[in-house]
Amino acid sequence: MSKAKWLLPIVAGVAAGAFIARQYKKKALAEEADLLWSLLGLRPGARVGEVGAGTGSMTEQIAARLKTPGHLFATEIDDKRLRQLVKKKVQQDWRNVTVEASHAFDCRIPANSCDAIYMRAVYHHFTDPAQMNGSIFRALRPGGTLAVVDFTPRWWLAPCMPKGIPANRGGHGIPSAILAEELEQVGFEQVRSIANWPGRKFCLLFQKPIAS
Ligand SMILES: C[S@@+](CC[C@H](N)C(=O)[O-])C[C@H]1O[C@@H](n2cnc3c(N)ncnc32)[C@H](O)[C@@H]1O
Repeated sequence: MSKAKWLLPIVAGVAAGAFIARQYKKKALAEEADLLWSLLGLRPGARVGEVGAGTGSMTEQIAARLKTPGHLFATEIDDKRLRQLVKKKVQQDWRNVTVEASHAFDCRIPANSCDAIYMRAVYHHFTDPAQMNGSIFRALRPGGTLAVVDFTPRWWLAPCMPKGIPANRGGHGIPSAILAEELEQVGFEQVRSIANWPGRKFCLLFQKPIAS
């Protein structure tokens, strides 16, 4: 048998596997976006913030659901990811998305601008959680909601621990009780806790009190 003859099914198998994995990831992302959407009580036209958008996979999902005049402020602290986010915004013509460079101590979302804010696997990266949380609180309108998706420390992620995080995290990740306590310290009220969020994560839902 020639080399090409036995290589062909292997290449076709790898390509089919990659295609199936991509489709699975896309479906899982859309399902998680639907969960976030209903948890935050969002409607088309709402004004939303995403802290630590990464390369924008969830940004794309939520922005599409918000439509216009809905708006999404997508922030990111890492320069490379920020550039990728800006590139995606232009290439995919996200007209209802503003991309903002975040600071370690300020989410850079305008005060009182959002009905809701979410972040996914970002909180445990915060090096100055008190300042960040204060800025997120200010960015929400009174009565606005905050969904924080994160995970308890995972030993196998220890080699890529975020640098400069507070010492009490206990590894790469964050216990939900510490996260809740820190957000309550800046004025948030916890309204829900979901232990079985997709990706073996948890999700905590907070509200900025109406009288604030
Ligand atoms: C694990 S990634 C998650 C990315 C994205 N949320 C997702 O679910 O695909 C964590 C992201 O948080 C960003 N990040 C860390 N600290 C941040 C901060 N203070 N403000 C904004 N983004 C931050 C990192 O640069 C990184 O892109």
